Amino acid sequence: MRILILFILVGSLYVFAGNRIQFPADWPDMKFVEEGVILKGNPLYGMVPGYHVTLMNDKAWKHFKKHFRDFKMKKEVPPFPVGSKVVFVNLKGKHSKTPRIILVMLKTGKPGDVGGWKWEGFVMPEKRRIVKNPLKDCANCHYKGKRDWDGIFVPHAK
Ligand code: HEC
Repeated sequence: MRILILFILVGSLYVFAGNRIQFPADWPDMKFVEEGVILKGNPLYGMVPGYHVTLMNDKAWKHFKKHFRDFKMKKEVPPFPVGSKVVFVNLKGKHSKTPRIILVMLKTGKPGDVGGWKWEGFVMPEKRRIVKNPLKDCANCHYKGKRDWDGIFVPHAK
């Protein structure tokens, strides 16, 4: 038993210290935030065309709900807490549960991570990672023209 606990501890330390985001296997259980369609002409079309849902883990969801009004009014809102996870799931169609690609942002709060988030994308079903350079591949666009915000579009959507 002790050995098992030790293994689990070492294992979680490894994951915690690791530089890579784990695949968000819990995405089907995450909280639904919004859905949308990326049409031709949208700069995201090349990567995530068509239908998507945006989901949050409990930590992010709590923060989002707590500050919902301020988000909607585009007021200043405190940054998402460490441990917040937001995923953008590009599905094969509105009535499909089969993801084509899953984008993830995970709040670490660490200065080495752009905006305090880790960024990754997984091509499904093989879960192939697509991010080589988080700044170039993802964050530059999220922070375009505006460095002093938390980089999450969802609250500003609609
Ligand atoms: C061309 C600009 C652009 C690039 C590049 C980009 N994003 Fe986004 N991202 C957006 C926009 C705009 C949205 C909001 C889209 C919507 O909900 O309709 C978004 C939404 C998201 C969301 C949902 C949360 C939110 O902010 O609304 C996640 C997670 C995400 N992107 C992660 C990534 C990751 C990881 C990468 C790199 C692989 C990436 N993005 C690259 C523009 C971009």
